[in-house]
Amino acid sequence: MKDFFSLLPLELLVIIISLLPFKEAVKSSVLFKNLLKASKFTKNVEFNELFFVKPDQSDETRQVQRRVFIDFIKTWIENHKGTVLDKFSLKMSTQANVGEVIDQCVGFATQRNVKELTLDFADSEWEEHDVYFGDYDAIFDMPKQVYAHSGLEHLKLYSCCFIEAEMRNFHVLKEVSLGWMKLSVTAIKGLLSNCRVLESLSMKRCWSSERFRLGQEETKGLKMLVIDHCRFEFDVFIVNALNLQIFKYYGWMNFNIMEIQSPEMEEADLDFAVEYSYHRRGYPLYNMMKNLSIASILTVCSYVLQVIPSGPEQLRMEHDMCVQHLIMNASLHEDEFIGIAFFINSCPMLGCLTIQICPKNDLSDCEEPFYFNLTRFWADFLGDCECLRSSLEEVEFDGYRGHKNENLLLEYLIIKGFVLKSISINLMKDDSGMIMESHSRQHAEDLLQVQRASKNLEITIS
Ligand SMILES: *[C@@H]1O[C@H](CO)[C@@H](O)[C@H](O)[C@H]1NC(C)=O
Ligand SMILES: *[C@@H]1O[C@H](CO)[C@@H](O)[C@H](O)[C@H]1NC(C)=O
Ligand SMILES: *[C@@H]1O[C@H](CO)[C@@H](O)[C@H](O)[C@H]1NC(C)=O
Repeated sequence: MKDFFSLLPLELLVIIISLLPFKEAVKSSVLFKNLLKASKFTKNVEFNELFFVKPDQSDETRQVQRRVFIDFIKTWIENHKGTVLDKFSLKMSTQANVGEVIDQCVGFATQRNVKELTLDFADSEWEEHDVYFGDYDAIFDMPKQVYAHSGLEHLKLYSCCFIEAEMRNFHVLKEVSLGWMKLSVTAIKGLLSNCRVLESLSMKRCWSSERFRLGQEETKGLKMLVIDHCRFEFDVFIVNALNLQIFKYYGWMNFNIMEIQSPEMEEADLDFAVEYSYHRRGYPLYNMMKNLSIASILTVCSYVLQVIPSGPEQLRMEHDMCVQHLIMNASLHEDEFIGIAFFINSCPMLGCLTIQICPKNDLSDCEEPFYFNLTRFWADFLGDCECLRSSLEEVEFDGYRGHKNENLLLEYLIIKGFVLKSISINLMKDDSGMIMESHSRQHAEDLLQVQRASKNLEITIS
């Protein structure tokens, strides 16, 4: 290794070291002299307090570790010789007296024309999914130099506030990610209006006691919107974005009206795993699904599967959905069966069906739409639905446990999937790769004996 690095020219080493995760780059540069030289020119700098401060230590130790971290930052910045930076990231907890080092970091990054800037002051222990009004406040303001830095392409601010009215110089800013702070809908609109080329906006654990409404005017350039466990005023959620292609929503389905008016929608991801009750959400959920039915990739969760049949239609949407790849996070509990049939029946162009086994949402006020005979369910309610006859070629099943309900569905797909080409069954494994349910392989192998409607079908078990 040593010789290898000493043979390479510095320019190449700078490229290599800039591609490494910063932590690895620092480690390697300690080992190899030539890399140490190259690391002074690296274009990718990441200062992360967690590399230095260990959460399980005493307060005094952590104070010392923090000081070492700050000294490391200062020394690194002083020794850096490069003139350009691609990425700069600073993650640190909010302590007194760090204002100066933050300014120093931001000055360092903006003078080197950084393209991707991350300022993350969120506490690493803030991970809960249930965000309330007032939960998080941004302690730091984004330093003034940043507003003047027109070359920025990606900006991530966690627990760091900004003044949307001053975000007027970002002529190439494409992607913004905001998290762990109060974020007014007015600020979101201001940000979108002032940054005209902004394509991607993500929000994580943000809150504001306003209704979430975005209109056509401010969303002209927006192609991707991610709302990850945020809290806005319930009841109404409306996005009217003509060019939006990707929409991801994780959190509460606490709206009587949830409208997404986006004729270009390609991919939608809905995860309401935090929900625990029906609250008569069947109708609003159905209406939103209608809005999203033009998407070609759709991911839904156990909650959607259980609640959708309590809307106006139980077993099929009134018109066809355009979904070609359907991903269902489901437990395959019988409470989800009608919802699963709803989607398979509604998607006549479905080419790929992915099932990811996950825990069921236990809903307190369970409303079973109708009684059915479990073993006959798929024959009775899927029949020869359109996609089974003409489009469904691929089934992926992740987290297979060998439960009866899993086999009922898979058997039916094998018997009735006339154009199926592959079914891949991935047995549920733990983190170390051990198969979790002892009989699962045997039950999966039983499926190999089922009579196949498609001659070209290959079933793999792994
Ligand atoms: C589905 O499950 C995967 C893996 O468990 C998870 O990462 C993803 O966020 C879930 N998505 C939805 C829409 O439920
Ligand atoms: C979305 O849904 C609303 C109400 O359900 C409806 O008025 C609107 O026409 C729909 N828009 C699209 C693009 O589907
Ligand atoms: C369900 O259907 C199967 C097959 O037709 C039948 O053998 C079984 O008795 C039925 N079960 C109930 C509870 O009706």
